[in-house]
Amino acid sequence: MALLEARGLTIRFGGHAAVDGVDLDVARGCVTGLIGPNGAGKTTIFNAITGLQEVNRGTLMLDGRDITQESPRRRARLGIARTFQQLEVFGSLSTRENILVAAEIRRRWARDLRADPDHDADVILDRVGLRAVADDRADTLPTGLARLCELGRALAARPRLLLLDEPASGLSDRETARFAELLRSLVAEGTAVLLVEHDVGLVMDVSESVNVLDYGTVLAVGTPAEVRQDQAVLDAYLGDGSTRARHAPVRVRETDRGAEQPARRVHVPPAVPMLELRDVTAAYGKIEVLHGIDLALPRGAVVALLGPNGAGKSTTLKVASGQIAPRSGCIHLGGRHVNGAAGHALTRVGLCAIPEGRGVFPNLTVRENLVMATYAGFSLGPIEERTYAFFPRLEPRRSQLAGTLSGGEQQMLAMARALVTDPVALLLDEMSMGLAPLVVDELYGLVADVARSGVSILVVEQFAHIVLGVADFAVVMVQGRITAAGRPTDIQAGLSSAYLGANA
Ligand SMILES: Nc1ncnc2c1ncn2[C@@H]1O[C@H](COP(=O)(O)OP(=O)(O)OP(=O)(O)O)[C@@H](O)[C@H]1O
Ligand SMILES: [Mg+2]
Repeated sequence: MALLEARGLTIRFGGHAAVDGVDLDVARGCVTGLIGPNGAGKTTIFNAITGLQEVNRGTLMLDGRDITQESPRRRARLGIARTFQQLEVFGSLSTRENILVAAEIRRRWARDLRADPDHDADVILDRVGLRAVADDRADTLPTGLARLCELGRALAARPRLLLLDEPASGLSDRETARFAELLRSLVAEGTAVLLVEHDVGLVMDVSESVNVLDYGTVLAVGTPAEVRQDQAVLDAYLGDGSTRARHAPVRVRETDRGAEQPARRVHVPPAVPMLELRDVTAAYGKIEVLHGIDLALPRGAVVALLGPNGAGKSTTLKVASGQIAPRSGCIHLGGRHVNGAAGHALTRVGLCAIPEGRGVFPNLTVRENLVMATYAGFSLGPIEERTYAFFPRLEPRRSQLAGTLSGGEQQMLAMARALVTDPVALLLDEMSMGLAPLVVDELYGLVADVARSGVSILVVEQFAHIVLGVADFAVVMVQGRITAAGRPTDIQAGLSSAYLGANA
């Protein structure tokens, strides 16, 4: 008997069944994979298992006991722990304190007087590899490490069933390999792990069996090898690598603008870089994190900014987009010195930045989020049309609150909002985070198209191999400095060395 057995699980939102008669087994001592396109119902299933979401029909059995009507708290005490797709850490606490709080809580409810939460926290810090950032505030951790912090917190409850919702997104290739080792050691101790992850390589590598979900139903279940060869799975989720050619390019630049034209746009002679950072340093408080960055973003080019977690990539984007002022050095947009210009002023001249995994207003509907883009002087009709042409999933959800969209659907909305406003320069942070492989493939095809139409694009991406396929130039950053720059082919050799792990 599997530790967790779900039978006929059905969850409706309005008239729409997000999960529709799902059977799912999660066995002890192994990793069970749960994959599927964005909006397939994966996170909703997690919510149902943990009791955050009521089910309309079906049963959930844990260790032979019916838990369908149990409270979330009770289920946690029975040994179910999870991580969240949209990170949930206590930002103002340190990494260690985040884990310690969970260990203290467990000691109390388990009435385990022999437990030593301090000791537990230390063991877990080492186990998840966060010793070096134990005293850092959780809200200063790069996404990948914050996810490990969340995992550490889940482990402090000593779960029998661990539900992981995209734990590896934001991890570099090398960190992902280390994470796979951690999963193996957890299941070797008997823990049952249910893993939702768009990094299919990881899922196939660590899972004993894989369930593929599509439109709320189980499309396939089997060993990784079986699932990988399943034609329906290839069509719905994995693709065969030729999707880019199949999809007609969406020409974002050929837009019919609304009546009111936006304010001045940047016009640059071809030889001048669209965006340039010269000897830029930046600091958080007293700690300098960028130490003299030189970076040029040519017109109509895609530049990939690569490097391990904590290298300073996101900070570089924040400085370039006016969210953080540089401590010294110069920033030029279209040949003009723009240090100190506020983010919104830069937006008005055509610079658009999408922050890592964020950027939608959760309490507005999809359509209202798109209305926000009309303030830049575009009319809603064409914006909606182009958004739904590229992301058809969003069209039937136009009246849904953005905060209730699936993780990937939110990312699509953030991307759409940026792409449809006809930017001259786009700064993309971890664009692939949370998106299904087919969508990532299509999105990078779109990025290449957008660049060809004259937009300059700077991309931060943990999956070096994806972005190098479309980049014209690549820059590698380590510890706040640029250590290599050139054509992708030139820097590829250096990439497989220390910084990004062997399979970058
Ligand atoms: N409260 C809600 N109201 C309406 N629809 C909802 C609500 N919550 C989720 N949905 C819809 O249910 C579907 C399943 O969402 P879910 O978050 O489970 O997808 P997912 O498989 O986790 O996708 P992703 O890979 O993008 O995270 C989505 O289409 C989503 O928009
Ligand atoms: Mg999800």
